[in-house]
Amino acid sequence: MSAEILDDLERIRQLDRSGMAPLIAGLPGQLAQTPRLVEAGSWPRWTRNDFDGIAVLGMGGSAIGGDLVRAYLGDTLPVPMSIVRDYRLPRWVNVRALVVASSYSGNTEETLCAVEEARRRSCRIIALCSGGELGRLAERYGWPIVALPGGFPPRTALGYSFAAVYLTLSRFGIVDDPVALLLRLSEFLNARNAALTPNVPPADNEAKRLASAIHGRIPVVYGAAGSMAVVALRWKGQVCENAKDLAFCGEAPECNHNEIVGWGLPSVSREKMITVFLRSVDDHPRVARRFDIVGQLLHDRGVLVETVWATGDKPLLRLFSLIQLGDWVSFYLAILNGVDPTPIAAIDYLKARLNETG
Ligand code: PA5
Repeated sequence: MSAEILDDLERIRQLDRSGMAPLIAGLPGQLAQTPRLVEAGSWPRWTRNDFDGIAVLGMGGSAIGGDLVRAYLGDTLPVPMSIVRDYRLPRWVNVRALVVASSYSGNTEETLCAVEEARRRSCRIIALCSGGELGRLAERYGWPIVALPGGFPPRTALGYSFAAVYLTLSRFGIVDDPVALLLRLSEFLNARNAALTPNVPPADNEAKRLASAIHGRIPVVYGAAGSMAVVALRWKGQVCENAKDLAFCGEAPECNHNEIVGWGLPSVSREKMITVFLRSVDDHPRVARRFDIVGQLLHDRGVLVETVWATGDKPLLRLFSLIQLGDWVSFYLAILNGVDPTPIAAIDYLKARLNETG
């Protein structure tokens, strides 16, 4: 499909037959609504002194909200926080751990298996889901639940899951109340949507421009460890699921100690791949310097490099400015690929096959 299609609103609408664009545009609304969803839950009187660690259990679209909370709060967290994407729990998750089981559908087997183990270990458990088996377990065992609205593809519920994890931590005094910040973030992203939605022509639309630059190539998205690397992971997931295109991600400075050697020599990296650097003024100054040098090095080897800068006057705004941009880029890549962004047939197939075999 040629790049002109991004100028053709009618064709975009036809391809987006399942309605991904309004869901991507809905991110700011979710951030603003979640405080009310959390308020509606019934909450035990746990305090930060009850916890030595926080484990968020989740997979794919339901794990990344926890990643973002950890990336944003960083070393302001008084206890360690891990995102567990597995059937098994690390040994440190014990009676003094706060376990947040995050599954949008409530039916993800890895998360259900891990939360069952957390229950056996007498952890304090919170459930974030729109129902499913996790909802039933929460009811049976009396776990507090943040009931998310149903009917979304899980990856489009990121605003809910990010804000729900953050608000849960503040409920127990682990971090400060983020409500004002979430509202500010919501307004900021709302305003930015106006420049990224399908009705904005490619010449004025950064997401359409980037999608055209990436189209036909495999993107490898890099971000700084601890913050933008999580955003790079989100870009990878969104490009794979929305555009049905392969993408990879990596983090700096680690990639400077191995991957940079691998670029340039195989001709495929020049002909069929593209690097995308997600950069922010929050990056460590030495990481910033590394991006400058490596960008030039790759360019000299004939590898395409796109650099995008986070915007906003606060670290959380900057983090989400590139989450939002990546979501829209993946949407336009789907359009350029001539596919409906919403269906994820391979994931559905795998889950169905796993269910058959028990
Ligand atoms: O985007 C998706 O649909 C997946 O990455 C899901 O989030 C993942 O399979 C886990 O499912 P759930 O979010 O329902 O727990």
